[in-house]
Amino acid sequence: MKLEDIKTICVVGAGNMGHQIALCCALAGYNVTCTDISQDMLDKAEAFAKSYLPERVSKGKLTQEQADSALTKLKFTVSLEEAAGNADFVIEAAVEKMDIKRKLFADLDRIAPPQTILVTNSSYIVSSEIADVTKRPDKVCNMHFFNPALVMKLVEVVQGPHTSAETAQITMDLSAKLGKTAVLLKKEIYGFLVNRILSALSQEALFLADMGIATPQEIDLAVTNALGHPMGPFRLMDLTGIDLAYYSSLERYQRTRDPKDKPSPLVVEKFVKGEWGKKTKKGYYTYE
Ligand code: 3HC
Repeated sequence: MKLEDIKTICVVGAGNMGHQIALCCALAGYNVTCTDISQDMLDKAEAFAKSYLPERVSKGKLTQEQADSALTKLKFTVSLEEAAGNADFVIEAAVEKMDIKRKLFADLDRIAPPQTILVTNSSYIVSSEIADVTKRPDKVCNMHFFNPALVMKLVEVVQGPHTSAETAQITMDLSAKLGKTAVLLKKEIYGFLVNRILSALSQEALFLADMGIATPQEIDLAVTNALGHPMGPFRLMDLTGIDLAYYSSLERYQRTRDPKDKPSPLVVEKFVKGEWGKKTKKGYYTYE
């Protein structure tokens, strides 16, 4: 398979990441079907595209033709069969739960054409923990986008021991076609590059807040003003989801058994209260 053979992309999951990844692909000229088990999530994803595209046109960032074309290329369905049945490339961006991802990849392997590449946008999980449920492990790898996916330039492509060089290369090439800068990790490591670096910062920020040294808001002020980050670690957690922070710490702790990897008391408190950040309109900050 070559990059030019990819015409149709299926994005599984219409959540925080999936809805924007789907739109990125449509804006790059691909026919995209975004699928989710929740019709409500699909409706929200469609509503987002319908408000985002005209806004970009009025800002002068897109032409009317580009916006119209992206919208006609973007479809939404609850049917995985319909979405993946004729896809040349599948990007899984479903919830960060291993059992769900393994079930999805087994289903995708059954539904998608045999030559189709299946990638996961997982934030942490390496694809070798998923690829074994398929009969095409050579066509499975990680393709990790960053939030908000329409804005952030980086994509991490992780080549597992089972991934063919061709699959890794096509995924790198597709990332470039989507306007992203891709980095290739030739060895798998849990959390890849960016989330490992980010979690070191977030762990320390949470430790300081848990100790009552400063509030999350003050820590954010310190990081943005002293280090020049566009957002502090707490506002960023609100953006990426405190539920994700909770699940990923738990997953990491289960692997390492290192007490510092346990979800922090503040994260647990927010998780239990359902204050998961921007998506629930309340996290460390409140949102309209
Ligand atoms: N969706 C789409 N576009 C958005 C957006 C969103 N949620 N938020 C902002 N934008 C766009 C705006 O339209 C604007 O575009 P333009 O300049 O072309 O007109 C541009 O981004 C700047 O927006 P604003 O001026 O409103 O706001 P900021 O300048 O504060 O930028 C930000 C917002 C881009 C989110 C910036 O704060 C930022 O870069 N924050 C850091 C984000 C980050 O670190 N992401 C990585 C998180 S880690 C991760 O994703 C890993 C994963 O596994 C969880």
